[in-house]
Amino acid sequence: MNKELINKILEAAIRAPSGDNVQPWRFQVSEDFTRIDLYNLPEKDDSYYNFEQAASYIAHGALLENILIAAGHMGIAVRYQLFPDDLEPDLVVRMDLTGALPQPDPLYHSIFNRRTNRFPFRRVDVTEQSLEKLKESVKCLDNISISLINQKDKINALAKILMVNDRLVFERKDLHGFLFDKIRWNMEQVDETRDGLPVETLGLNPIEKVFFPLMRFWRVVKIANLFGLSRIIGLKCWWNCRNASVLAMISSAGNDKFAFVQGGRAVQRLWLEATNQGLEMQPIIGLPLLIHRLIQTKVLNFGDKHRQMIERTRISLIDQSSISETETLISSFRIGYGSARTIETKRRNLDS
Ligand SMILES: Cc1cc2nc3c(=O)[nH]c(=O)nc-3n(C[C@H](O)[C@H](O)[C@H](O)COP(=O)(O)O)c2cc1C
Repeated sequence: MNKELINKILEAAIRAPSGDNVQPWRFQVSEDFTRIDLYNLPEKDDSYYNFEQAASYIAHGALLENILIAAGHMGIAVRYQLFPDDLEPDLVVRMDLTGALPQPDPLYHSIFNRRTNRFPFRRVDVTEQSLEKLKESVKCLDNISISLINQKDKINALAKILMVNDRLVFERKDLHGFLFDKIRWNMEQVDETRDGLPVETLGLNPIEKVFFPLMRFWRVVKIANLFGLSRIIGLKCWWNCRNASVLAMISSAGNDKFAFVQGGRAVQRLWLEATNQGLEMQPIIGLPLLIHRLIQTKVLNFGDKHRQMIERTRISLIDQSSISETETLISSFRIGYGSARTIETKRRNLDS
C-alpha cells in the first residue's frame, strides 16, 4: 500500500453524490497507508432533510461503495466496519486494506462518469434485459429492496406523488434557504468553494434561466406563490417524472444509521449500472427523507398542510410500489435517456 494507491482510491471515493453536493466527509489515513477512517462532518448539512444525519449517511454509503469497487478493481482487499467506536459517533467506517488479486469491476469507470441529470429525458422504453441488469446491480446487498416501475400508467400515478418533492422546496422557507445557499451562480464561486450546485446543473430552460435568480429571495417566492409558482415547480417535476423510462425506488430494512449507509450503497450501485448502460438519473431523495422524519418524530414540526401532504404521499407511495410499511424508503429516482449530459460537479481537493 502506498500514498499513490490510496489517493487513487480516494479520488474515486469522493465522486460519490451527496445532498446538494455538501460532501459531508473527512478521511484519516494511517501512516503505513493500510487504514482509512471515514468521518462524517455533521456541520456540512444542517438541512431539515438531514434528520439524525440520514442524508449524510446515504452519501457515506455511496462513498463506501465507490471505495469497495475501486479497491477491488486495483487489487486491494478491504475489510470494513461501520460505526466501529461508540465513543466516536462521527466515525462512520473503518477500512483496513491488504493486497489482493485485481478483480476488474465493470462499474469502476462509471464512478467518474456518473452525474445527476435534472434535464428532461426522452421517453424511450428500456428493454427487459436492461431492467434485469438494474435489478441485479443491488442483489449483492443484504436488506435492500428495489422497485422498478416502467408501465406508463404506473409511472403517471407515481409522478403525481413525487412532484411534492420540488413543490415543498418553494413552500418552505427552511428548505428553500438551504437549496439557494448551495447554488453556485458562476464559475468563480464554483472554483472557490468546490461544493454546491452549479446553476447549469439545475435543468433550467432558457426562460427559467432568466427568472431563476429572482427566486433566491424568499419574499419574491412568497408573492409568486400567490400566483401558483410552487405548483408550477411541482408540475415540472411531475412532467419530468412522467417522461422517465423508469421510476425506481430503493428501500432498506430498518430505519437506523446502518440502514441508511446500506441504502446509500444500493443507490450508488444502481446509479453506476444505469450509467454503464448510458442511462441518465435524477435522484428524488428529499421526499423520502421527510417521510422518514415524519415517521420518526410523528409530528414533523412542519405545519398541518405540509404534514398532511407528506403523510398522504407516504401512504400513496406504499400503495403504488412494492415497499412494505416496515421498510424505509431511501430514495426514488427517475431514469431515462437524456438529450444532453450535464457538467461535472466539483469536489473539494483531497488535501483539504
Ligand atoms: C442524500 C442525497 C439527496 C439528494 N437529493 C436530491 C434531490 O432530491 N434532487 C436532486 O435533483 N438531486 C438530489 N441529490 C443529488 C445531489 O444533488 C448530487 O449528487 C450532488 O449535487 C453532486 O452532483 P453529481 O451527482 O452530479 O455528482 C441527492 C444526493 C444525495 C446523496
